[in-house]
Amino acid sequence: MESKSIEEVKELMEKDKGSVVDLKSLNDFKVKYLGKKGLISELNSLIKNIPNEEKKEFGQKVNEVRNLFNDFYEEKKSKFETALLNDRLSREAIDISLPATKIVTGAPNILEKLVEEVESVFMSMGYDVVDGPEIEYDKYNFEMLNIPKGHPARDAQDTFYLEGEEILLRSQTSPVQVRTMLEGKGSVPIRMICPGKTYRRDDDDATHSHQFMQIEGLLVDKDISLSDLKGMIDVVMKKLFGQDVESRFRPSYYQFTEPSVEVDISCFNCKGSGCNICKKTGWITVAGAGMVHPNVLSMSGYDPKVWSGFAFGFGAERLAMLKYDINDLRVFYNTDLREVKIFDRKESE
Ligand code: DAH
Repeated sequence: MESKSIEEVKELMEKDKGSVVDLKSLNDFKVKYLGKKGLISELNSLIKNIPNEEKKEFGQKVNEVRNLFNDFYEEKKSKFETALLNDRLSREAIDISLPATKIVTGAPNILEKLVEEVESVFMSMGYDVVDGPEIEYDKYNFEMLNIPKGHPARDAQDTFYLEGEEILLRSQTSPVQVRTMLEGKGSVPIRMICPGKTYRRDDDDATHSHQFMQIEGLLVDKDISLSDLKGMIDVVMKKLFGQDVESRFRPSYYQFTEPSVEVDISCFNCKGSGCNICKKTGWITVAGAGMVHPNVLSMSGYDPKVWSGFAFGFGAERLAMLKYDINDLRVFYNTDLREVKIFDRKESE
């Protein structure tokens, strides 16, 4: 194809300008003049055939055409892009007068928070935090805790059995005592707590749920007495509920402890004068506890003539209800963020 002269290209370009109406046609225009085989590019390649003395002038003329092209191209490009942007902005306009959507953030589960607090108190006293299975053998949940098959104490726990009579959902965290001792293989001291879920078949009122949480504890060593248990409970309760909280033991009965006690704390709300929280008694029950029964020690490989220990089991929801002034157990397992938030606020007050 015969190359066009500079003047021809210039004229043609002036004519073509009229067909540039948007970014697409602008791009076609660019390809036509500056593309690999574009008309201006071709002029450039002609330069080598031009006699030396004319090269300069030729080059200048080509540059002029190129500058004309550039000026036009840049102007159109920015014009089309601005138009495009304005168009988009008007279509995607944000109405800033609309009320904003509230961002709901999560909050830690209040029960989990309480458990963490209890854990850190016990860890500061050298206790390990251990775990145990929620699906448990009858052997650990009952038999090795001195509750043989057919024992009436089993009825009280309304257990969920999973397979026959041997596998169940643990009705208490006490089997973790057995597991810890078996693992300890006779070595001392044992100092552990185990927070965990437990299951029973009663959920008939606001203070019972088929799933709840206990915080089990066990200490085994030489010459451990009930007063060690009392001292430890007192320290922990003061740390959790305040320095002026008192604790007391009432005699009780559990198959795996002897003697057994019920642990009460003085009502931190009314300071003993009687209110709704303590049901007008001035005291609130928070745990079952006692000295580990000799049978339990020996079944798990610890000679009761040499070793002694104490054990305790807190109701975790109970502690949280008291600490955060909650009156329905079921809210702990509720995922309603509004409720979680309320506790979160109380906490930080
Ligand atoms: N496991 C008992 C219950 O669920 C609570 C308990 C009582 C745990 C006395 C203990 C204990 O470790 O020594 O009712």
